[in-house]
Amino acid sequence: MKNMGRTGAWTLGAAGMLGLAAAGYAVARRRTTVSTLPQDTAADSTVNLLAEGYTFISSRCRRFTSDVFETRLLFAHAICTMGEEAARMFYVPERFTRRGAIPFTAVKLLQDHGSVQMLEGDAHRHRKDRFLSLTSPERSRELVALFESLWRAAVPAWSRADRILLQHEVRQLLCRAVCAWAGVPLDERDVAQRTREFTAMIDNAGAIGPRNWLAIGQRARTERWIRGVIEAVRRGTLEVPEACAASAWASYRGPDGALLDANTAAVELINVLRPTIAVASYITFAALALHRFPDTRRMIDTGSDEELHAFVQEVRRFYPFFPAVGGLVRQPFEWNGHRFAEGEWVLLDIHGTNHDARTWDIPDAFRPDRFRGREANAFAPVAQGGGDVRNGHRCPGEGITLDLMKAGVRLLTRTMQYAVPPQNLHVDLSIMPALPSRFTIAHVRPIA
Ligand code: HEM
Repeated sequence: MKNMGRTGAWTLGAAGMLGLAAAGYAVARRRTTVSTLPQDTAADSTVNLLAEGYTFISSRCRRFTSDVFETRLLFAHAICTMGEEAARMFYVPERFTRRGAIPFTAVKLLQDHGSVQMLEGDAHRHRKDRFLSLTSPERSRELVALFESLWRAAVPAWSRADRILLQHEVRQLLCRAVCAWAGVPLDERDVAQRTREFTAMIDNAGAIGPRNWLAIGQRARTERWIRGVIEAVRRGTLEVPEACAASAWASYRGPDGALLDANTAAVELINVLRPTIAVASYITFAALALHRFPDTRRMIDTGSDEELHAFVQEVRRFYPFFPAVGGLVRQPFEWNGHRFAEGEWVLLDIHGTNHDARTWDIPDAFRPDRFRGREANAFAPVAQGGGDVRNGHRCPGEGITLDLMKAGVRLLTRTMQYAVPPQNLHVDLSIMPALPSRFTIAHVRPIA
């Protein structure tokens, strides 16, 4: 696993775990119970994790014919799990905390200290409600409308270029769209720089050394900028619509009635902006799927919104994004014959759960029709976490993610024609974040 990127929670990445060890977390995590779980035999499996990436947990579960096994990652005891039943175990509200399960360097670039992800109980629910009001279907429609109009306006420039890097372009469009939607003023001259800053957070959360430090330095600029927005809204020198995210975080009061300090309010506003820009990766994967599986493209060209929904759900299930989520046990419990003690470090394999043959027929085939007419299931797929969104740490941005992905697919297929020149489209599961190396499109032509 050569790098990792995340938008939401701490997710398993070897480099991140190097950071974890360096921060001294690892030594604190010892096995606290006598266990009968299958054991990974290596004294420490970090090197295997580095080599195997997204398949590290699932390949061992297959070998042990078990949904759970114990291992050591960077000298820390860890329990790895996968599958729909494991997701049900992992997403029991209040059972785990993300606090202390996440390397400092990754927390700093992603959700950050003081964010909703670090809270539990009433404080968490109260803050989460604010996120959920910001990501409601109505608010999502407004964001999508902005994104669509920016995309349409960009097509003529794309058609004049020889070729474009799709993810790069879509990230910039999303950066413009989400800032406008959130009430964050963004000068056109700053779009490229701000997009680079958000991208650096996503791509370098798991890196160690200079790349990570550079991204943290870049993030400090973003924080200054967004803190300035919060302060200006509070002073009344920046007028923004009441319903927008800038106003929502500037005015948010916790259960104790106190305003958030400006830093924390900025952190939560960034936690709306950054992951929305990360949806560009899923739109790129959707474009890759349209290219690799032309039959599904025909289905979309002729199909309904239901078919489009099934397509983007399959993109989220099929393609890798976050490999795993981690937590420390808060409330001891038993599962699969094992007693999980307080403080134990547990990892749930997201990619493996989304490719588990017990839940998904022919899991390694890209088949959007598996989502046609399928009942909603809170534990499969788990691309953005599982369980109850309000009472747990499941991502509050799933509706926005799906809506933006659908818009991206509609725009790719209905507003423009393009060619996919010969290039390496292999998705290497040992590289984090996994993407086709550089998905380029050429000969873009607007459809009148
Ligand atoms: C590329 C799309 C996205 C992916 C793959 C993704 C994935 C995730 C994952 C895996 C988690 C952690 C779940 C856990 O800890 O159990 C999470 C949490 C979170 N995500 Fe997302 N997310 C995405 C988009 C968004 C968007 C668009 C927003 C906001 C507009 C958002 C805001 C958050 C927040 C605030 C949390 C923390 C929730 C909590 O701790 O209660 N994410 N996300």
